[in-house]
Amino acid sequence: MPAALTGSVWQVEADDFPSDGSTEEQAKFLLRYAILAPSSHNSQPWVFDLSGDEIRIGADESRWLDAADPDKRELYISVGCAVENCCVAAEHFGFEPQVEYHDLESADFVATVTLRESEPANPRPPELFDAITTRATSHSVFDNEPLVPEARERLARVVREDSVTLHLVDDSETNGAISELQAEADRLQMDDPEYRAELGHWIGNGALGSSWLAARIGQAVVTHLDIGDREAKQNSKLIRSAPVVGVLTTETDDPVTRVKTGQAFEQIALLASSEGIAVHPMSQTLERPNLRTRLAEALRTTENPQHLFRLGYTDNEVDHTPRWPLETFLADRGDRD
Ligand SMILES: Cc1cc2nc3c(=O)[nH]c(=O)nc-3n(C[C@H](O)[C@H](O)[C@H](O)COP(=O)(O)O)c2cc1C
Repeated sequence: MPAALTGSVWQVEADDFPSDGSTEEQAKFLLRYAILAPSSHNSQPWVFDLSGDEIRIGADESRWLDAADPDKRELYISVGCAVENCCVAAEHFGFEPQVEYHDLESADFVATVTLRESEPANPRPPELFDAITTRATSHSVFDNEPLVPEARERLARVVREDSVTLHLVDDSETNGAISELQAEADRLQMDDPEYRAELGHWIGNGALGSSWLAARIGQAVVTHLDIGDREAKQNSKLIRSAPVVGVLTTETDDPVTRVKTGQAFEQIALLASSEGIAVHPMSQTLERPNLRTRLAEALRTTENPQHLFRLGYTDNEVDHTPRWPLETFLADRGDRD
């Protein structure tokens, strides 16, 4: 039987950490935090293999969004978000997590997190841990209030990966250029039947969190009607309402770089959440190679844009999206949906 999506995974309690258990049992507990990571279409495309003090983390290509994400950029960014949650939780429970990255030519897993029982030399901000269970993606129009300067400054400094550059766009000219690229991308994507069918599938299976009826209606709309214009108008309005648009760029453009981008994004998303700042990734511009190039031009960078997201304030509460249970993602099991 394939496991059902559930919201109960969000009830993880730090007090249940198996302090007297083996390192492998403790590592498995950390994965309860890893699976709360964000992922493209909530596809949760990660797989974990536990062995002693090592957690190997890879991409499960059965959940790869091959229409939206042909170059697997979002696949590995999503995996990177799970790697980062794992590291944040490991530090909280007294480990120094060491991440080793692997070349996929010769390895099945893209990263190995090794748990060392020691004080981290360069610890992550402690508030990131509580934010793992409170973070959620917001799709609301933002209030267009500027970010609190101290919070903006902390966000600008939170990224640990030297190879990932964070651009915080808050000038109206570049924001306008990004919102136009977004509109163009939405029209192109929604005009592509394979893109719409794939999105419809993920809405329909409930991963994006709607009620059954709403999910069915949403799926029908996305699969059968041309909603490109509506999406374009709505999404460019969302970008214009954001006081800051964040873009992560990198010099190189390979799976390991994308995993590091995912880690950097999750550091930002968790810190933002702890500061009351809403976060909303918007990927369509990056999904079209020529628009991705034009985004780099708008940012005046020669690096490769990897991930784009809005940052801002809203009073609208967001419900958590569901997850498959942890067992679904453990390497030797074959009961994935
Ligand atoms: C790589 C990546 C790309 C994403 N792209 C989009 C996007 O284009 N539009 C959107 O609304 N959300 C996007 N998201 C957010 C996911 O839809 C969201 O993380 C997922 O549904 C799980 O919900 P949660 O973040 O509230 O836990 C993206 C997330 C990631 C990690």
